Amino acid sequence: MNDVSAYLSEGLDYPRFKKHFSEFIGIGDNGHLWVEGRDVVELAETFGTPLYVISENQFRHNYRRFRDAFASRYPKSVEILFANKCNNGIAVRHIMNQEGAGGDAFGINEMYLALLAGTDPKTLVLNGSNKGVQEIEMAIVNGICINIDAMDEIDIIEAAAERLNRDVDIGVRVKLLLKGLENRFGAETHGSGSLAEQGRGHKWGMTIDQTVELFQRVHKNPRLNPKEISYHLSRMDNKAADFAVMAREMIEWSAQIRDKIDWTPPYIDLGGGWAFGRPEKTGPDGADDESTSSFEEYAEAVSEAIKDECKKLGVELPGIKIEPGRAVAACAGITLGRVGAVKEWPGVKKWVNVDASTNHILRIATSHWYHHIVAANKADKPATETVSVVGPLCSLDELGDARELPELVRGDVVAMLDTGSYTESTAGRFNAERMPATVLVCGDDAEVTTERERLSDVIGRYKAPARLLAKSFGAAG
Ligand SMILES: Cc1ncc(COP(=O)(O)O)c(C=O)c1O
Repeated sequence: MNDVSAYLSEGLDYPRFKKHFSEFIGIGDNGHLWVEGRDVVELAETFGTPLYVISENQFRHNYRRFRDAFASRYPKSVEILFANKCNNGIAVRHIMNQEGAGGDAFGINEMYLALLAGTDPKTLVLNGSNKGVQEIEMAIVNGICINIDAMDEIDIIEAAAERLNRDVDIGVRVKLLLKGLENRFGAETHGSGSLAEQGRGHKWGMTIDQTVELFQRVHKNPRLNPKEISYHLSRMDNKAADFAVMAREMIEWSAQIRDKIDWTPPYIDLGGGWAFGRPEKTGPDGADDESTSSFEEYAEAVSEAIKDECKKLGVELPGIKIEPGRAVAACAGITLGRVGAVKEWPGVKKWVNVDASTNHILRIATSHWYHHIVAANKADKPATETVSVVGPLCSLDELGDARELPELVRGDVVAMLDTGSYTESTAGRFNAERMPATVLVCGDDAEVTTERERLSDVIGRYKAPARLLAKSFGAAG
């Protein structure tokens, strides 16, 4: 279980709340929801709604707890690569740089953003299933490790390395068979079926034969430095034991590669998908409750599995890389919405409309993601009714159905928890909605790190061909 305060990091100033939702987010003495030293009701007033709010120190805390969990249990090098895709904010990337985190950059734009934020390129890996020439060149000139995910990618890399006269670090994204997860089921993130079926059915990764062939070519080219095999189990499951099965198979693959080409990958990259849970529930269909493995349980199970399998197969212990996204970012963010119309069908259902929408927390609509909802200005009031909290879109737009909350009226503020990951970075714009601003809170400081979109940002890209313009007024032509 992920106890609040089961881990405390030196140098962080932990606040005390009447009730904690995480170390830096909780209910203050005035009965409002607070992020660090700021009352979120006041943040909503100052910065407007809908509003994303991020706690800088929660980010730092989560990162350190994750890092320390693995570093204290695994005897070789452990590199934590923050999954940039889960929160692309430049301020967030700066925080991760300061903590010493590397990064998983998925595609050219994430790579560019990470470089723009000053991330050490040697700590980045480039992932992607369809990398372009420009993208590969950007990785090569900056010295970023490329995880190959298609047979002909190596042709592009070899040609670019030659043209640019540079050496390149190379990994291969592998397609594990996950036989040990044949009867394990979880969130259907990659289609339907068992965790093994989902893992085999998606587009990523190279088979063992392809992996061996790729590394044979890498070894023949003095410009290419073979570095790692990588795998990403994804947030299909929240149990440490299943990640240990995956880690074991990575060592089996290392042994197979060694047997074929007399070389063992010095690093295995275990990707992301590490869950976190809370008593109020979070994650797909609210599956991530107190029974979710803690960071320490993940680290223990995975480290032991790798050590054991290496011993069995006579494989030298590799360094590990891990790419957590949500585990570091999710509970560091909340989304605020202001209550507007409240509507009741007496005796049947009550709807509380807010100005935040599923555009802003898209995974609620696309992946049944559950976000606990708190009445921010009535956070210590008892729940007196069951309501559906809905956004303004012309879709179901349910941020949370059947939620037990105190009575809400126009002007109140609600907060959806755990929106620090895959929220701003996946937001949509149905009904021509503008994107909210993001405010970063650190102690008593609160600063805008993403500007609220203007109407011109939404409509500015649209064009009508000249031949259509006058016709709208009935003019001939
Ligand atoms: C290659 C890779 N690494 C890491 C992650 C991060 O996953 P999570 O945020 O679930 O930890 C992802 C997510 O899609 C990924 O594709």
